[in-house]
Amino acid sequence: MTKAKIGIINVSDRASKGIYEDIPGKAVIATLGEYLISNWEYAYAVIPDEQDQIAAKMIEMADAEGCCLIVTTGGTGPAVRDVTPEATEQVCQKMMPGFGEQMRRVSLQYVPTAILSRQTAGIRNNTLIVNLPGKPKAIRECLDAVFPAIPYCIDLIDGPYLEANEEVIKVFRPKSAIRKKENE
Ligand code: MTE
Repeated sequence: MTKAKIGIINVSDRASKGIYEDIPGKAVIATLGEYLISNWEYAYAVIPDEQDQIAAKMIEMADAEGCCLIVTTGGTGPAVRDVTPEATEQVCQKMMPGFGEQMRRVSLQYVPTAILSRQTAGIRNNTLIVNLPGKPKAIRECLDAVFPAIPYCIDLIDGPYLEANEEVIKVFRPKSAIRKKENE
């Protein structure tokens, strides 16, 4: 089966200058590592809060590196430098507003400031791009909220078949989309 490539972009002025350690990027990798049992590898970048640089990295990971999924962390809030959702809209042909709605709905159970995140998701050709907030705690909360729908979304854009560990996260696919293992 095709090995899935997943792009992880930590958007942070301070992490890109080395002032902060890149804890959010590592948190995404660790969480995906817990979820996925199918083969995957990652591409990884730490980028300042500059819309053009974020968009260029998304395009490189999607078009040149063939990532089926790109997960960003940070830059979703209301501050002047927060532009990750704008970069996402810039590079996507289709927006997937349900991801942001669901992440904010679930996050509100943890913090009232969840409404400050403008996090969204979209499709660029065969790549799903999902924004997460930058706080490590928020990363797990948000991924747990939307990951169940991600493998089927990637099926629908002709990406690789992602399989997850049911004991960690229950992904949902319609019965007709579930593939039997090759040796069954
Ligand atoms: N979502 C969850 N699940 N947990 C959180 O702690 N923090 C909020 C919000 N969403 C938070 C959350 C806060 S305080 C902000 S400012 C926004 O995410 C934007 O964060 P970002 O600018 O790091 O993307």
